[in-house]
Amino acid sequence: MKKVFKKATISAIFLGLIFSVFSCNNIEKKTETETEGHSHSHDENGTGHSHSHTHYEANDTIPAHKLLYPSKVPDRIIANVPEDAATMIAVNWRTNQQINNAVLEVAVATDGPEFQLGDIKSVNAKTEVFENKHVKHNEPLVKTNYHSASITGLEPKTTYVYRVGSNELEGDTLWSEWFQYTTASDKTGEEFSFIYFGDAQNQVKSMWSRVIRNSYRKFPSVDFMLHAGDLINDHDSNLQWGEWFYSGSFIHATVPSIMTPGNHEYKDTTLTPLWQPQFNLPKNGPKGINEISETTYAVDYQDLKVISIDCINFDRKDEHREAQVQWLDSILKNNTKKWTALTMHFPLYTPAQKREDNAVLIEHLKPLIDKYKVDLVLQGHDHTYARGQISNKKSGVTLMSDAGTIYAVSVSGPKMYESTDKKWIERRGEFTQLFQIITIKNNKLSYEAYTPIGTLYDAFDLTKAGNKKILKNRIPDTPVRLKSDYTR
Ligand SMILES: [Fe+2]
Repeated sequence: MKKVFKKATISAIFLGLIFSVFSCNNIEKKTETETEGHSHSHDENGTGHSHSHTHYEANDTIPAHKLLYPSKVPDRIIANVPEDAATMIAVNWRTNQQINNAVLEVAVATDGPEFQLGDIKSVNAKTEVFENKHVKHNEPLVKTNYHSASITGLEPKTTYVYRVGSNELEGDTLWSEWFQYTTASDKTGEEFSFIYFGDAQNQVKSMWSRVIRNSYRKFPSVDFMLHAGDLINDHDSNLQWGEWFYSGSFIHATVPSIMTPGNHEYKDTTLTPLWQPQFNLPKNGPKGINEISETTYAVDYQDLKVISIDCINFDRKDEHREAQVQWLDSILKNNTKKWTALTMHFPLYTPAQKREDNAVLIEHLKPLIDKYKVDLVLQGHDHTYARGQISNKKSGVTLMSDAGTIYAVSVSGPKMYESTDKKWIERRGEFTQLFQIITIKNNKLSYEAYTPIGTLYDAFDLTKAGNKKILKNRIPDTPVRLKSDYTR
């Protein structure tokens, strides 16, 4: 028995050595042809197995090179909420610059692997050659191809599988895994939900990842996710965007998302050059202004219309403000959805200490929000939590028979500011990482804010009855969390 084991072990080592010689040679060849500009040194000693070297020497000085550099295999794969969520899938991903024939494949999901034998729809991606170098933190130049593809004509409320990749090599080598994805219903009155995140922004891999991951663990059947700006801190940092994609990983590919840009996605008046290449968001905003394409747009999801306002552009570019206002007015005027949510990064009314209300947004947007009775305004930027109504009497009542627009400010990352208890705020909290799940079923909307460990921090229900909305507060009977209680 012992002898047999010994023999087997020696054979295994021998085979292992042969394999490592061959595989090293293979990697070397690939390195020379694929990763242009990456020098490598060799320390051959004749046996081919005891040398130590790297084939990515140029990258070795960069601690997080895996988050930065693309390969031939797709990464940073994200599904975005398409214009028609019931019949479309819209995907975006990244490879190195050697992939020019990227493809999206979609099939109806099956119990077993048989979907691979059946009808697989295939769409060629639009490819954008892209490179950028983030200067402030001296990141290296990153050269990529970004690919975007949408597939139309799908069945509502149906579970599909999709994958992205290339047929350049046989088999699955250059493909993503098959992701499972369910289209929205095309019927009114059916339940759906979405998760709203305030700023992730800082220490995204270290400190934000648990928020998105535990939001998904708590609500795995959520239909889409919404990010209210400042997803990262430095607008063109490839490393920070790498952290954001890493943190969400397959969730970004499985649950479609929408995002509105924050001031940190901008540098002065310029949007990050990565925004449009790396997302496949609707291009249905104000016509003729390419700068706010995929930042100002509207999506419908069953009974809800969600509108993203690029409030940075709105705030800083007088010449585009009027276009956004006119566009928003026409979208709201023609809105046939039962529920309406606006998202923008800057809050109209700030809960933060040492910050002012945003007079420009209030002047230009508040009249439209009131006129068209927008239900929710979902915002970020203030690194604190607040939820209420501007017309609040702050009665502390649990029931209000004629509720107005609900404004919320939230934060999902670790950067924390202090807030002030203002009249409009019904529930407030500092120093708390949160995500909100909003569930809509016909005339009823439920909103719940949770911490990453699943503690309920705020909740309310809105019910539409004729022309009015009944607000029922379900605020947990726990003290307001204050930063001073945790930091001094
Ligand atoms: Fe911000």
